[in-house]
Amino acid sequence: MSKKFFIRWMVPRDMDWVAMTEWMCFDDPISCQDFVDMLRKRNHVGLVALIDGELAGYILYEIFSDRYEIITFAVHEDFRRQGVGTKIMEKMKVKVSPQKRRKLIFEVRDSNLRGQLFLKKIGFKATGVTGDYYPMVYEKKFQETG
Ligand SMILES: CC(C)(COP(=O)(O)OP(=O)(O)OC[C@H]1O[C@@H](n2cnc3c(N)ncnc32)[C@H](O)[C@@H]1OP(=O)(O)O)[C@@H](O)C(=O)NCCC(=O)NCCS
Repeated sequence: MSKKFFIRWMVPRDMDWVAMTEWMCFDDPISCQDFVDMLRKRNHVGLVALIDGELAGYILYEIFSDRYEIITFAVHEDFRRQGVGTKIMEKMKVKVSPQKRRKLIFEVRDSNLRGQLFLKKIGFKATGVTGDYYPMVYEKKFQETG
C-alpha cells in the first residue's frame, strides 16, 4: 500500500520534533526557542512533511523584498532518499510568489556534500563563496524552472 504524504504549516506542537531532528542533522542546531521566536515573525515560514501521519522533514525560510532565504531544511534520516526533500521544495515553490521575488538562496557548509548534491539535483546553482560559517551560496532562479 502506498504511503500517505502530506505537507502543512509548522506549528508549535511540532517544535520538539523539529528541534530534535535539527540537533541530529547539524552541529550548530537552531534551538527550540529560536524556532518558536522565528515562527512568530511574519516574514518567516515553516513547513513540515508527514508520511502516514509521522513527521518526516521540515523547512524554515525567510521572506525578503527581493528573495527567499532558506534558514534550515532537513529530512529525518529514517525517511531519506524517498523524495521527501524534493517534495518539500516543490511545495515551497507553489507557496512563493516568483513575480515579486525571483530567487531562493541557501547557504550550506562546504563539507555538506550530500546537501550540495541534493541542491544541484533539484536545480540550484552554486553562485558564490562567502567567508562565513556556511560558505557555499546556492541559488535557484524561479523563472528558469517555471
Ligand atoms: C539533503 C537532504 C535534505 C535530502 O533529503 P532527501 O529527502 O533524502 O532527498 P530526496 O530523496 O528528495 O533526493 C533527491 C535527490 O537528491 C540527491 N541526493 C539526496 N541525498 C543524497 C545523498 N546522500 N547522496 C547523494 N545524492 C543525494 C539524489 O540525486 C536524489 O535523487 P535519487 O534518490 O533519485 O538519487 C537530507 O539528506 C538531509 O536532511 N540531510 C541533512 C540535513 C542537511 O544537510 N540539510 C541541508 C540540505 S541542503
